[in-house]
Amino acid sequence: MESALLAVGLTTLDIVARPIEDLTRTERAILIEGIVCAPAGTAGGAAMVAARLGTPTRILGAVGDDLNGRFVREGLEAFGVDTGLLATRPGQTTSTTLLTVEASGRRSSFHAPGAASTAAVDEAALGAARRARFVHYGGIGAPALDGGAGAELLKTAKDFGAIVTCDLISPRRSAPDELKRLLPYVDYFMPSAAEATFLTGAEDLEAAVEQFLAWGAGGCIIKDGGRGSLVALAGTRRRLPAYAIEPADTTSCGDSYCAGFISALGRGWTPLEACRFATATAALVALGLGTLGKLQGFEETAEAMRTMTIGEA
Ligand SMILES: Nc1ncnc2c1ncn2[C@@H]1O[C@H](COP(=O)(O)OP(=O)(O)OP(=O)(O)O)[C@@H](O)[C@H]1O
Ligand SMILES: [Mg+2]
Repeated sequence: MESALLAVGLTTLDIVARPIEDLTRTERAILIEGIVCAPAGTAGGAAMVAARLGTPTRILGAVGDDLNGRFVREGLEAFGVDTGLLATRPGQTTSTTLLTVEASGRRSSFHAPGAASTAAVDEAALGAARRARFVHYGGIGAPALDGGAGAELLKTAKDFGAIVTCDLISPRRSAPDELKRLLPYVDYFMPSAAEATFLTGAEDLEAAVEQFLAWGAGGCIIKDGGRGSLVALAGTRRRLPAYAIEPADTTSCGDSYCAGFISALGRGWTPLEACRFATATAALVALGLGTLGKLQGFEETAEAMRTMTIGEA
């Protein structure tokens, strides 16, 4: 079967450890609750979660030819992700992030850049974009994608009828220019609150939403951590509260929100109901460590969506 979802861009390894309050205070070994390694990144994390939710998924990105890269590839494959378009770059390391999470949930992250930024578009990628039902774009900032190639991929996807979603991480000063190229082909732009205000310079999220729509996005969903999300769809604007949970680790909540949204749309849910499903997906991910946290399949997540307590709006 063709992939329902093509996830494009940042593909990394996350190593998440909890709880770690103080770094390097002693040279003794300290026992902690858990350490989890998992494929991650705007594309890699979303692909992992979408596959877990039963969405046939293909990834387009790049890893290094080290053991971290093999782990990422095999981890994605273990959940059924098609890695045929995941390149291995000879002589390069795999982009890897070490995240230390305090008992309170606050976290530090240490990132070693690597092959992820070499993600590129070729004929095979364009072919996959023509055949995908959804394209999730997480490639902003990759030199071979910025400046036109990423936009061409999204244009191709749209021309062939795909629904295009887009997320990003740690945007640079050049990101607004790239967004102006991409957003005309994006149906749902899904940044975090911090990213939205950085990208637009807007005073509040409502103003940021209007800016993204003016740059061409069809709709916009701003993820706002424990405050939930701001959803702008076809003229309506509404705040969706998050679930009232005690998060263990919110790493990859944003990526999982995107994956949950796409997976629910893929099953015919309305965009607003898909945002509710996405909120439940992110909550289950936040209950455990790393990319998947306590997430199980689609039905379990739909059941959790109905039974978990919704927080304050
Ligand atoms: N403390 C929390 N309690 C409940 N839900 C949460 C919490 N933190 C995040 N979420 C859920 O996860 C969604 C996405 O989280 P967030 O806004 O942190 O995304 P992000 O900053 O893009 O994350 P990422 O680190 O994955 O890039 C939120 O909209 C919310 O539904
Ligand atoms: Mg994010």
